Amino acid sequence: MSEKHLFEEIKNHFEIVSFISQYVKLKKIGRNYVGHCPFHSEKTPSFTVSPEKQIFKCFGCGAAGDVVTFYMKLRGLEFREALAELAEKAGIKIDKTYFLEKKREREEIELNFKVAKIYQNFLWSHPSGERARTYLKERGLSEETAKTFLLGYAPGEGRVLASMLRAQKIDLELAQRVGIITKDRDGSFLDLFRDRLIFPIFNENGECVGFGGRALSSQVEPKYLNSPESKVFKKGEVLYGLFQSKEYIKKEGIVIIVEGYFDFLSLWEKALRNVVATCGTALTEKHLSKLKLIAEDYIVFYDGDRAGKQAAIKAISLIARTGKIPKIIVLPEELDPDSFVQKKELSEDTLKEELNKFLVDGFTFLRTFYLEDYKKNPSYVFREYLEMFKGVDDPILLNAIVREMASYFHIPETEIYKRLKIDWVEKRESIPLKTQEREDKLSEGLKIIAQYLVNYPEELQTLEEIGLGELLKEEREGPYYEFLLKFLERKPGQDDLFFVFSEGPFQEILSDLLFSPPFENKESVLEDIKQYIKKELRKRELKRVCENLKLLERAGNREEIEVFLYRLREKLKNSIDFKEI
Ligand code: UTP
Ligand code: MN
Repeated sequence: MSEKHLFEEIKNHFEIVSFISQYVKLKKIGRNYVGHCPFHSEKTPSFTVSPEKQIFKCFGCGAAGDVVTFYMKLRGLEFREALAELAEKAGIKIDKTYFLEKKREREEIELNFKVAKIYQNFLWSHPSGERARTYLKERGLSEETAKTFLLGYAPGEGRVLASMLRAQKIDLELAQRVGIITKDRDGSFLDLFRDRLIFPIFNENGECVGFGGRALSSQVEPKYLNSPESKVFKKGEVLYGLFQSKEYIKKEGIVIIVEGYFDFLSLWEKALRNVVATCGTALTEKHLSKLKLIAEDYIVFYDGDRAGKQAAIKAISLIARTGKIPKIIVLPEELDPDSFVQKKELSEDTLKEELNKFLVDGFTFLRTFYLEDYKKNPSYVFREYLEMFKGVDDPILLNAIVREMASYFHIPETEIYKRLKIDWVEKRESIPLKTQEREDKLSEGLKIIAQYLVNYPEELQTLEEIGLGELLKEEREGPYYEFLLKFLERKPGQDDLFFVFSEGPFQEILSDLLFSPPFENKESVLEDIKQYIKKELRKRELKRVCENLKLLERAGNREEIEVFLYRLREKLKNSIDFKEI
């Protein structure tokens, strides 16, 4: 059975209202059903399910999609995984490869967990674990914390894991696949981690996806060794400690982001628990998309040195794109969160209080960081700010940024607003747009086209004939642009819309479009779209002409300019109506 066919079978099998009712209490209001959104906490229900369209949308958090999306979001699954599980529930027999791939991942996770237990056992019950136990004590971690995070010890001789796994009848191929053992030149197996303290890394669902291992002596390089990247272990996505800390994060509404395993654990030890750590990579959008679901505010708590501060600036920029400016805990140069806790011998009671003394809002942090640069070269700092905040589109935050920059650089707000917007737009568009208004109009136009196509996919050819492909040719970004490109490429019909747009963001757009009120007059909308495309294409043409003219002017070749102008005049006579532009 093809994936598409399976998808259809599943959609036929599960009626969305009764399916979602298993998880959310729904009440019928008018044509739709309404309830409390399972994807964010809310007091008034804004989660809406349409039985006619077989889709849902939360007007609070924006989550939207069909029955498969719902299940994906609910269980944190990928599209194929969700299909496989739903097929199982529905009793649909499917091609084994679905299960195989999923099964492989499950096996890897299970194996990792077994390995974590083996290492944990070495730490607590084996003579060779003694040094690691002492090390933990020296670093101020209790047995309780170490056990909560399943810390372990990998012995030094480097040939223990394979034999232990063999004894447990575990497939060594699998162990090689996750990278914890490798084949030596003589064909024997060698452990990846040797004489290291082991940090099992869990994803947000509590599945053991990989390991970090710290050398016990400062002579050994590298200081930390991690499991290799794999389908289940992606450093750019996983957050150390999130599984254990997410309840605390939800409760506080604030997440503290640190960069090291020990930073995380030391804070946990002192009962500061709404914390997560990245695993040896910079913070990414993927990380933030996980945190966004459970936290409203962010605190960045990195090392006190320059590298730590630079990483904090990257974090500010990234977090700003989610609509927030984080607070920053700024430590003295030589400290990191862990050494700060140890040095001051802080107790549970005094830790928060002490940290508050170092907590500054993001804007203040930036001003302090750029203090010297600002004195020497304020334009450089100005450009840094533009670069940092150019992707922000939350209007309220943008407003706050503009106000801050105006007061810092003594430049009128309107000027900054323009620069931020234009800089940003220029990056995304090859045509620099004059005003925000123009930008809005452009995506509004694309949105109407998308809405039209979603309702009348059979009309795609008509739109192509009037230049839709041409319209999309210019290098652009934006959700409707991407959506339309895909539409053009895949040419879906009414039946396989949801299949073609099965990835997260596309599904949301699709559901959103379907939830918009239907057009009252199809013909007049089509006429509007025709006019719109025509106009846009002409504007572009005109722009190209102007650019060419400018080039010729610069080259100062009068003759060529004359020829060009002559040809242009002829062309204009035939096509462009100036009043329209
Ligand atoms: P740091 O070098 O700041 O180490 O790396 P740390 O957290 O202070 O470690 P301790 O206190 O000396 O034990 C921060 C994080 O970067 C990753 C690890 O996740 C580490 O916790 N890292 C660091 C690596 O992945 N590899 C390395 O060689 C070093
Ligand atoms: Mn440290």
